Amino acid sequence: MPKVTFLPANVTYEYETGKLPYGEHGKPESLLDVAEHFGFHLEHACGGNNACTTCHVIVKNNTDGNLTELDDDEADRLDKAPGLTIHSRLGCQCVVTGDVVVEIPNWNINYVSEGGGSINLGGAIPLPKK
Ligand code: FES
Repeated sequence: MPKVTFLPANVTYEYETGKLPYGEHGKPESLLDVAEHFGFHLEHACGGNNACTTCHVIVKNNTDGNLTELDDDEADRLDKAPGLTIHSRLGCQCVVTGDVVVEIPNWNINYVSEGGGSINLGGAIPLPKK
């Protein structure tokens, strides 16, 4: 029963592996798929197809074995994400296999809440704080 926590909202969802109906956004049981299933908003401008970076999250706990490993396709796309960290992942590409805590970067939340909407942010720089 993996538990997935999204920060800063600090909401946790628990479900049984292999039992989530696939929502057709991102890889099955990816962070995006889990978020969509529970009605939690995680931006996904390309529909979960590894073609943008809007689903960028930062992993906050030690997830050895709790997320699938970063593959070359995800790593190549992630390279274009603003605010990249060594703990960054794309929510649509990493599949949950155990308990994980991830943070949605502030700049992304701000961008969306300020009406940025769903566009490809691949090369964008964070908006200045007001
Ligand atoms: S939603 Fe576009 S790369 Fe994840």
